[in-house]
Amino acid sequence: MSESTIASASGTTAVVLEAEALTKHFPVRRAAREVVKGTARTVHAVEQVTLRLRRGRVTALVGESGSGKSTVARLLAQLYPRTSGEIRLHGEPVTVRGGRKFRAYSKKVQLIFQDPFASLNPVHTVRYHLGRALKIHGNGGRNRAELETALRELLTRVSLTPPERYLDKFPHELSGGQRQRVAIARALGADPDALLADEPVSMLDVSIRLGVLNLLRDLKERLQLAILYITHDIASARYFADETLVMYAGRIVEGGDSETLTQHPAHPYTRLLIDSAPDPDRGAHENDLPEKVDSLAALGKDNARAEPPSLIDPPAGCRFHPRCPQAMARCRTEVPPRFDIGDGAGHWAACWLYAVDDPARESAGEPAGEPVS
Ligand SMILES: Nc1ncnc2c1ncn2[C@@H]1O[C@H](COP(=O)(O)OP(=O)(O)O)[C@@H](O)[C@H]1O
Ligand SMILES: [Mg+2]
Repeated sequence: MSESTIASASGTTAVVLEAEALTKHFPVRRAAREVVKGTARTVHAVEQVTLRLRRGRVTALVGESGSGKSTVARLLAQLYPRTSGEIRLHGEPVTVRGGRKFRAYSKKVQLIFQDPFASLNPVHTVRYHLGRALKIHGNGGRNRAELETALRELLTRVSLTPPERYLDKFPHELSGGQRQRVAIARALGADPDALLADEPVSMLDVSIRLGVLNLLRDLKERLQLAILYITHDIASARYFADETLVMYAGRIVEGGDSETLTQHPAHPYTRLLIDSAPDPDRGAHENDLPEKVDSLAALGKDNARAEPPSLIDPPAGCRFHPRCPQAMARCRTEVPPRFDIGDGAGHWAACWLYAVDDPARESAGEPAGEPVS
């Protein structure tokens, strides 16, 4: 996609954090037999991921479990080194290897985890967690009174009010939603420009998820944060995110304005996700997306194909081709680049169905392909 398309999709909003061709391969410990044979094994967890997070906007990264979403978040947070690619903060390429540089980076880019219980230390109070974050990042004020004011402001910002009711509580004395609000407040203690939220509500009770998402949206607007919202639930991306990116087996396969992408999904994988998306009329426990996707895919002719691919030996060409109802011959060998869908809103798909030179494509609105037998 051209830079001008991105600009028209997102206005002139400043890019805070961006990844260019970000790639992460994890080495896998080899069995003795493989060492003898000399066959190295690698998990191709993240491949050529390019994305931009903008000031005052939420970008959703949607995909099944194991598609590489958390790895993207950890790479963006510089928690471990990348295999290749570039990360830029306010346009400056950054590579952090611990120490002071990491502290400076994490002041600007904060990560929120899925499980607020695991991310808060059970032996410390809310005051300790927030006070430490404020002090580490130089936002604790000059004296006790200023620190106390800053603590109260943080709690008020995440709607834990009155603050004095929460300051001296331990994590186990709070509900899941309150704990996640404390984790968010702790991230805000750094006064960051970007917030990476890795499935921030998926461990919370369904009834309180919306409250936490609305809080994040409020923070986006009031603090003009650039937010990466990671989720396996494309319905929540539509509700909450300005822009949506769909990830499959380590690659981003489709992107665009959330409303356009969810109303008119272009990539066959995104269509599958949307067809199997949670229905608000069904019970919450039935809305577990990865299972739905697989059961839906299993309706196809070949049940054995309905598995997400192994990332140790990912399929050549388009990684989705073994599950794709519209796969063509070239999908098995050539990685599709991003093609503009042309419905505005910076909508693109990495899918050969949209190749302009593709004779199999009959019209712009109705992509057609020869199924691979
Ligand atoms: N530290 C690691 N070492 C080896 N493999 C890893 C590591 N972290 C993640 N992976 C693998 O990378 C792939 C993507 O994982 P992850 O990013 O956690 O996906 P998601 O967050 O979408 O569920 C998975 O196959 C996972 O097993
Ligand atoms: Mg994850």
